[in-house]
Amino acid sequence: MDAEGLTEAMPALLRASGLQVSYGPVIAVDALDLEVREGSVVGLIGPNGAGKTSAIDALTGYHPASSGSVSFDGEEVTRMRPYKRARRGLGRTFQSVELFDDLTVEENLQVAADHLGIGRALRDLFLPIGERSRDDVDWALRLCGLQDDAERLPTELSAGRRKLVGVARALAQRPRLVMMDEPAAGLDTDESAELGERLRTLPAAGVSVFLVDHDMSLVLGVCEQIYVLDFGKLIASGTPSEIRSSDAVIGAYLGKQEVASAN
Ligand SMILES: Nc1ncnc2c1ncn2[C@@H]1O[C@H](COP(=O)(O)OP(=O)(O)OP(=O)(O)O)[C@@H](O)[C@H]1O
Ligand SMILES: [Mg+2]
Repeated sequence: MDAEGLTEAMPALLRASGLQVSYGPVIAVDALDLEVREGSVVGLIGPNGAGKTSAIDALTGYHPASSGSVSFDGEEVTRMRPYKRARRGLGRTFQSVELFDDLTVEENLQVAADHLGIGRALRDLFLPIGERSRDDVDWALRLCGLQDDAERLPTELSAGRRKLVGVARALAQRPRLVMMDEPAAGLDTDESAELGERLRTLPAAGVSVFLVDHDMSLVLGVCEQIYVLDFGKLIASGTPSEIRSSDAVIGAYLGKQEVASAN
């Protein structure tokens, strides 16, 4: 069985059924069905205002779903508070990275690792020394290639590396699934390719990935399954090659030029 076949055989880690997100009269996400299997890298793309951030917000609990349901690891979590979902292993990054500028990179990660609170502290008591939150921070720094920046302040880093700190901060909580909201925004081509390489390694490290981004070569290059939103509705889903050749996607979003240049 190939790698894709293997993930297809895995149960869905995250599943949304008929998810609707609204802000007053504005329906930002409409009847969205999607799933992320354990060990996979799944993408969500769509034009500005399509509802991508709203979907992440509802899936992670930062904004209530107005209807539909969300389950994580087989458990219904639709009304569960975000920190409880995080404790179960559902992590996220934010579209605009807010770091503590007076804390070092490492301290920014430590705050996140400690943030899971009493559950984490209790877990640490029973874990061998090599597996405590300090190690989660080192693990996340290493995965993101930030070891040399650990003692630096975020203000000393390029925009690209600050973005990576945002990713590392989410990883320091050892999520089973991390939902990333435009981690490549503001990165140059090389930085984006490097991020792609790092994202590819996450499933082997026990972290599944849900990636929202406008960088087509990143999304088409690292995701095995991609969902496409337009005006809050799912207009396509499939493998990168299916998405590249989908008339609905080309018409609504990508444009032949962009699809060709992402190949
Ligand atoms: N807090 C809010 N209050 C009212 N409307 C909102 C709010 N947040 C988002 N919207 C609206 O919901 C729709 C979806 O927005 P959302 O931010 O989810 O899109 P997006 O796909 O993440 O866009 P982008 O690519 O620009 O980040 C848009 O019409 C937006 O104006
Ligand atoms: Mg957004």
